[in-house]
Amino acid sequence: MVQVLRTVHEFRVACEKAHASGLGFVPTMGALHEGHLALVTEAKRHAPIVAASIFVNPTQFGPNEDLARYPRDLDGDLSKLEAVGADILFAPSTDEMYATGEQTRVAVPRVAAPLCGRFRLGHFEGVATVVTKLFAITGPCTAVFGRKDYQQLAVIKRLVVDLCLPVQVIGFPTVRDLDGLAKSSRNLYLSPDERACALAIPNALAEAQAAFATGERAAATTLARARSRIEAVTDRIDYVDIVDADSLEPLVGNQIDHRALMAIACHVGKTRLIDNVVLGEDARIAVAEAK
Ligand code: PAF
Repeated sequence: MVQVLRTVHEFRVACEKAHASGLGFVPTMGALHEGHLALVTEAKRHAPIVAASIFVNPTQFGPNEDLARYPRDLDGDLSKLEAVGADILFAPSTDEMYATGEQTRVAVPRVAAPLCGRFRLGHFEGVATVVTKLFAITGPCTAVFGRKDYQQLAVIKRLVVDLCLPVQVIGFPTVRDLDGLAKSSRNLYLSPDERACALAIPNALAEAQAAFATGERAAATTLARARSRIEAVTDRIDYVDIVDADSLEPLVGNQIDHRALMAIACHVGKTRLIDNVVLGEDARIAVAEAK
C-alpha cells in the first residue's frame, strides 16, 4: 500500500524514518507513464524504500504554457505506483510547496541558458527551485530522473554539487514506445495524425546515430539532415542542436570529437516535444518510418 502524504511535515518525517535503510526518490508531475515507472523501478534497485512525488509545479510553466491543461490523474497514478512497489507518495498542494510570501529562487544560469532555456524563459529556475525544495525535505536520498529531459538532469546535477546537497542523482535512459517515440505525459495531447508526424523526431535522432556509427563527425551535415526531416512534418522547430554533452556549451568548430548531445525541440500541432541522444553513447533508437 502506497502511503499518501500531503504535507511537508508528514513527508519529512517519513523520509527521516527511511534514512536508516536508504531512500530512493522520484520527483514527477504525475500523468505517470512507463517512463516514470521505470524510474521508480530503478530507484528500488538503489534503496529499499522509494518515495515518488506528484506536484505540477507552477513556477516552471511560462504564461503561455500548458499549466492549466497539464494532464492530472492522481487515482490512476496511485494504482500505477502501487503496481511497481513505491512506498510513499508525496502529493502536496501549491500552497504547501509555495507558502504565502515565498520569494526564494534557485538559478543555474549557464547550464540553463542554451537549448530549451532560450525558448522557456524561467523554466529551469522553476525546476531548480522546486527540486531543491523537494531535496531539502527528503534529505539524503538517491534521486532518479529521466535522460529524456537531459538539460533538466544537467541543471539538477549542477545544483546538487553547487549547494552540497546529500543527494545521489541518477540519470535513467529514455523509455520509448515500440515505434521509437519517447514516452512523455504530453504525448496524451497528440491526435493519431500528429503522433505519426512526431515520429520524425526519433527518426532524425536514429539517423544521426547511424551516421555517427559509420564515421560521420561533421555537426553541420548531421544537423541539416535532421532539420530537413523534422521541418517536413512538424509545425515549428525550436531547435535542432549538437552541444557538449557535459557542459551543454556549443561545440568548438564543426567536428563532433568528444561526447556530444544531439537535442531536438519542436511543435507538433499545439504540443511541444523534446528528445535527445548522446551520440556514440546512448542505445540505438529502433524506429518506424514517419508519415
Ligand atoms: O520532470 C518533471 O516531471 C519535473 O520537471 C520535475 C523534475 C518533477 C520538477 O517539477
